[in-house]
Amino acid sequence: MSLSHRHNREFQPEKLHLPRDFSIPVIDESQPLLIEIGAGKGKHAVEYAEQHPKQQLIAIERTRTKFQAFAKIAQQKQLNNLFPIHADAIAWVVHALAPASIDAVYLLYPNPEPHNPNQQWLNMPFFEFLLSRLKEGGQIILASNIQSYIDNAESQSVNVWCLPTIKTPVPADSQRTHFEVKYLARGEACWQLTLCKPVNYKTRFDQWYYQP
Ligand SMILES: C[S@@+](CC[C@H](N)C(=O)[O-])C[C@H]1O[C@@H](n2cnc3c(N)ncnc32)[C@H](O)[C@@H]1O
Repeated sequence: MSLSHRHNREFQPEKLHLPRDFSIPVIDESQPLLIEIGAGKGKHAVEYAEQHPKQQLIAIERTRTKFQAFAKIAQQKQLNNLFPIHADAIAWVVHALAPASIDAVYLLYPNPEPHNPNQQWLNMPFFEFLLSRLKEGGQIILASNIQSYIDNAESQSVNVWCLPTIKTPVPADSQRTHFEVKYLARGEACWQLTLCKPVNYKTRFDQWYYQP
């Protein structure tokens, strides 16, 4: 049986420009590869790479000042399994990643976009492209302190993207990212969704490669 999604608007990867100073890290294909989108100042990325030396993490951040802070700490740590990228993650993923090439995607505390829900990750046509880059059995991990963001993402995951989806509370002592630390210190509830790409899942981008 092949599984798919129920999304109509089609993402158009060929319309995106190559990111400035584009380069692709050299990856060991025998080891797991993960990406983090919106890595901020890199707290999670650095700690994850330190704790998982056999996994490779590409962590992408668009905002220059945050990326500079991230790049500085990454350079101090000299982790050969962490690859900080300063780019818009959408353009970078389109140009850099092959279909079914990544094991997991971290989306930790994305911008809530309350006035522009089309920009929430699971509402975007790009999400189908992102799913095409995941391996079968790969996961997307999304965390947020905004109940309506999580509720909408859960509904989209189940009803549009047809993905097995687990919702869990983030433990009150979790400290993965700067935003997570801030929200939990204020006593706010934070939630995590774990989405799994099933075996035989199909997207319209499974054969799509960037051709320079
Ligand atoms: C609310 S912050 C959270 C940062 C970090 N994950 C944390 O929890 O501390 C969201 C981050 O996502 C970044 N971001 C949003 N859209 C992005 C995109 N398309 N590509 C790369 N980074 C993006 C923003 O620049 C911002 O730093």
